[in-house]
Amino acid sequence: MLKDDILSALKESGTYCSGQVLCERFGVTRSAVWKAIAKLREEGCVIDARPNRGYLLREEGDLMDGRALSEALKENSFLKEILFFRTIDSTNLEVKRRAEKGEEGPLLIVADEQTAGRGRRGRAWSSPPGTDIFMSMLLRPKVHPENAAMITLVTALAVAGGIQAATGLRVQIKWPNDVVIGGKKTCGILTEMSTDLDEISYVVPGIGINVNSRVFPEEIAATATSLCLECGRTVHRVPVIAEFVRCFERYYGAFTETEDLSSLREVYESMLVNRDREVLVLDPKGSWRGTAEGITDKGELRVRRTDGTAVCVRSGEVSVRGIYGYV
Ligand code: BTN
Repeated sequence: MLKDDILSALKESGTYCSGQVLCERFGVTRSAVWKAIAKLREEGCVIDARPNRGYLLREEGDLMDGRALSEALKENSFLKEILFFRTIDSTNLEVKRRAEKGEEGPLLIVADEQTAGRGRRGRAWSSPPGTDIFMSMLLRPKVHPENAAMITLVTALAVAGGIQAATGLRVQIKWPNDVVIGGKKTCGILTEMSTDLDEISYVVPGIGINVNSRVFPEEIAATATSLCLECGRTVHRVPVIAEFVRCFERYYGAFTETEDLSSLREVYESMLVNRDREVLVLDPKGSWRGTAEGITDKGELRVRRTDGTAVCVRSGEVSVRGIYGYV
């Protein structure tokens, strides 16, 4: 790809590189060079352009490609296939298309950009190129459909563990599956499932991690953060994905063995941002307040009401937030 060749040339040169030299070297027009530079900038590279001097690469950004991803995951024995797309409508949609065609999995699809990224409750998920992680897995777990909702909690746990291992940041989970740093959301998970009679046909956990985004849509600006904002530097996406896969393999194995979270409860609760905090339970039948104590083996949130009774609330039926805001 011309853009990758130009990036290598700019890296090699270490100083300004004239547009004319790039045109001659790659046998392309000035406008093709300009378009490739624009694309690199979109992907996060910081490139100076000066009349009579040409282009200078100031910051490389975080370029991701299929080769680097396969290399980082070469020791993984869990995924049968790993696919990388420069751009795609939605990694969840692509995994579902493949599942419907009979692909077995486990499969991981990663994209640099999504043109129709989807969030929960029918919302869109902003997915610009060159900055964040968009990935989905195809799983065919042999568990009862009623227990499949726990896969979302397992996924959140693996994302939290993966980010922690790759960056050293302290990561928490807002029940059931928002991954939070410093009280702000850094990852969202959309899990979709298809059942056949009362068996699971497939489950697709879709994961969006804010890695190098610095600005967010207005409606989430106050409650969102990214790894780069928290670390104060560009964060490479491939190691985060590789650490996530490592954690996921372990946690998913533990879950499928018992079909519950009994062996993961302790680690999940150690990351639970709501623990021992007052929460507002948004029940469609009426909101109420209580103190979150932890989770059950089935992944429900245990909340102590003000009258002293304990209630186990299920994700999907209610949502929970802090009494003063997001957490
Ligand atoms: C949320 O609303 O919190 C969930 C967001 C999930 C976004 C991810 S990005 C990768 C995958 N593909 C999608 O279209 N959505 C999920």
